[in-house]
Amino acid sequence: MSSPSKDQENPLRDHMVKNSHTNSWSLPKTMICFIVLVSLPYVFYSLILLYSSDTPNHEPVIRIHRQHSRNKVLVPTHVPSSDDTEDKTSLKHVVFGIGASSSTWEHRRNYIRTWWRPNVTRGHVWLDKPVKNSSIDHLLPPIKVSGDTSKFQYKNPIGTRDAIRISRIVSESFRLGLKDVRWFVMGDDDTVFFLDNLARVLSKYDHNEYYYIGYPSESHLQNLAFYYGMGFGGGGFAISYALAKALEKIQDECLHRNPSLYGSDERIFACMMELGVPLTKHPGFHQLDIYGDLSGILMAHPVAPILSLHHLDLIEPVFPKMDRVKAVKRLMVPMKLDSAGLIQQSICYCKTRSWTVSVSWGYAVQIYRGIIAAKEMSVPARTFIDWNFGDEDVYFSFNTRPVSTNPCQKPFVYYLSNALFNLNLNRTASEYIRHQESNSDCDWKIADPSRIKRIEVYKKPDPHLWDKPPRRNCCRILPTKKKGTMVVDVGVCREGEIAGL
Ligand SMILES: *[C@@H]1O[C@H](CO)[C@@H](O)[C@H](O)[C@H]1NC(C)=O
Ligand SMILES: *[C@@H]1O[C@H](CO)[C@@H](O)[C@H](O)[C@H]1NC(C)=O
Ligand SMILES: *[C@@H]1O[C@H](CO)[C@@H](O)[C@H](O)[C@H]1NC(C)=O
Repeated sequence: MSSPSKDQENPLRDHMVKNSHTNSWSLPKTMICFIVLVSLPYVFYSLILLYSSDTPNHEPVIRIHRQHSRNKVLVPTHVPSSDDTEDKTSLKHVVFGIGASSSTWEHRRNYIRTWWRPNVTRGHVWLDKPVKNSSIDHLLPPIKVSGDTSKFQYKNPIGTRDAIRISRIVSESFRLGLKDVRWFVMGDDDTVFFLDNLARVLSKYDHNEYYYIGYPSESHLQNLAFYYGMGFGGGGFAISYALAKALEKIQDECLHRNPSLYGSDERIFACMMELGVPLTKHPGFHQLDIYGDLSGILMAHPVAPILSLHHLDLIEPVFPKMDRVKAVKRLMVPMKLDSAGLIQQSICYCKTRSWTVSVSWGYAVQIYRGIIAAKEMSVPARTFIDWNFGDEDVYFSFNTRPVSTNPCQKPFVYYLSNALFNLNLNRTASEYIRHQESNSDCDWKIADPSRIKRIEVYKKPDPHLWDKPPRRNCCRILPTKKKGTMVVDVGVCREGEIAGL
């Protein structure tokens, strides 16, 4: 499927080659959203190629292109970073402790398969009791059965005793005495981690000091029921080696002192408070104490790397109308191409048509009628409700904006369908296809975006994005002659370039 002739037919590649030959890759002098309504033959290649039989179930594939000339270079799945020095903290220094249960393991292990890297990631799944022939699967973490907790009292009226054994995963992992460990990362069996981003974040902190890194809940009431300073366990949290060592010494006594707490994360929090170590809050851990469609959060992610997603069984699939596990797998395709840039928002405008375009790289693109200020676009739309079924802004621990009922203000949403690395152009190319039916019952005198059926986004991988102070990328709408297509370039903002008109 990567024969040279087919490569040349690839529309994503084709477009970019043409542009680079004609030197039209730089920002056009006037930002014209150029759409010619003339059908051109290569338009149809896109549909044929991207939905041909080699992509069953619309599973995206990363096409590996051979360079025609000289050396046959294959694209690395992970874009190498240049300063992988021996001493820098990386994934190999991280030990995961996944809190799981024998009753849900059969199903939830499918989420773990989406992010676990056999022979690369270290750690264990901790179960309450053994499950049948579980150690056979080499694509999953090895299984451990938690130590007996019957000597501990559990006095919480709502929760379950599992909280005790799950909170002890940190100590039990520490006691295994594994070599060269710098961080212990806890998560649930329905948590998906974005490993490269997580390793990058942890590499900024000294594991020889005491660090407890995580994030509270999206739900204000959940943070009141527990603590704003608690790392919620499903979103995941990291404990430095030095702190895990200190925790291990006191944890069992601490558990005896706190029998009436609810969950495992609250028990960790209680012990951290005894040790006097506050939570280092790092955005990007997503507990997702919400129901419904999380797209509002992913379309306006904080300017921070995405680290985890939790509650994948409770929220709607990450991509609509898709199997939940397959949807997560789809997200892993752009993640492998440019993990640092995954889900990062950039905002730009089509001046001639008065549209606002918001790219959430590797996930979705939105087009809004009208020019909406960046300060509005950077606030998540409430496409979801809170854990307590609240749908107003006061239920959340962050700013949200309502989803408008006015058809003119409804965005056109395009979800990722495919992503690949284009060697000739040295850029990622990702494609987004319109999701919902057109909402054209709008009487505004603004061009109707429904003519745009697909969006192509080009972006250079930027593994050092988070080595710099946080800043959004900029996007630019490029001229194209492809019918029904918008072409967008995403990258570091140039001198003086802003998201504004
Ligand atoms: C992991 O490594 C072992 C031995 O080093 C090898 O036998 C096994 O096939 C590897 N598994 C995967 C999934 O790469
Ligand atoms: C596990 O055991 C069951 C029956 O006990 C069997 O049907 C299944 O194929 C086994 N799974 C693996 C991965 O060996
Ligand atoms: C591709 O771009 C990277 C920087 O983004 C650069 O370091 C590398 O040399 C480029 N490779 C080629 C073949 O142009």
